[in-house]
Amino acid sequence: MAAPKKKLAHPSRGATAKEPRAKASVKLAKHAKPAAAKLSAERTKLPQASDGVMAIYPGSFDPITNGHLDIIRRAFNVFPRVTVAVAFNPNKDDAMFTPEERVTMIKEALPEFRDRLVADSFSGLLVDYARRVKARVLIRGLRAVSDFEYEFQMTMMNRHLRPEIETVFMMAGEQYFYTSSRLVKEVATFGGDVRSLVPASVMRRFRQRLAEKRAG
Ligand code: PNS
Repeated sequence: MAAPKKKLAHPSRGATAKEPRAKASVKLAKHAKPAAAKLSAERTKLPQASDGVMAIYPGSFDPITNGHLDIIRRAFNVFPRVTVAVAFNPNKDDAMFTPEERVTMIKEALPEFRDRLVADSFSGLLVDYARRVKARVLIRGLRAVSDFEYEFQMTMMNRHLRPEIETVFMMAGEQYFYTSSRLVKEVATFGGDVRSLVPASVMRRFRQRLAEKRAG
């Protein structure tokens, strides 16, 4: 015959009929302290902003748009630290904004992540930059199926160059499916309204750049 199951005392349960309430609460407090300490020790084991996996979100960001910001915010839900890396070619750069301006606009647009965000610029291969900053994750945003071909090629080429680097894709919010730096620049240049598509700091610089162009 099977032995009767022993009732296990549950540490979090209160007084038994024989124990007065006050005594039980002393017992609970004694028990709760190490449990709380253990929990906080567990928490400090979680990735911290200072030492966690660092992901790079690379791009031209000429300029950063609200679609990019949507991806960056999603990335911060997953990674403790994100480096937004502006790629530029020092020999052939027909960008509207300098790499420094692009980095500044990124910082200005994300003040809430000041402690976890690095905004930087690089030239040369992305995988070499990733090696320099010790990052093993690349983030790319996807808007529509049309992005896939280009992203697939880049991912496979980067994997060929450095197989240990993983590319993680995130879907942009549907309101950003038609937003791209190229289109936003074109529309702004011809006087179209792009205020809902870019952060305020970018809008300011658009106005400044266009005024400079008009002045010759
Ligand atoms: O968002 P973008 O502008 O299309 O980003 C493209 C970018 C900057 C990620 C890509 O052109 C790049 O990685 N440039 C750095 C040079 C490089 O590594 N080229 C090989 C890519 S497979």
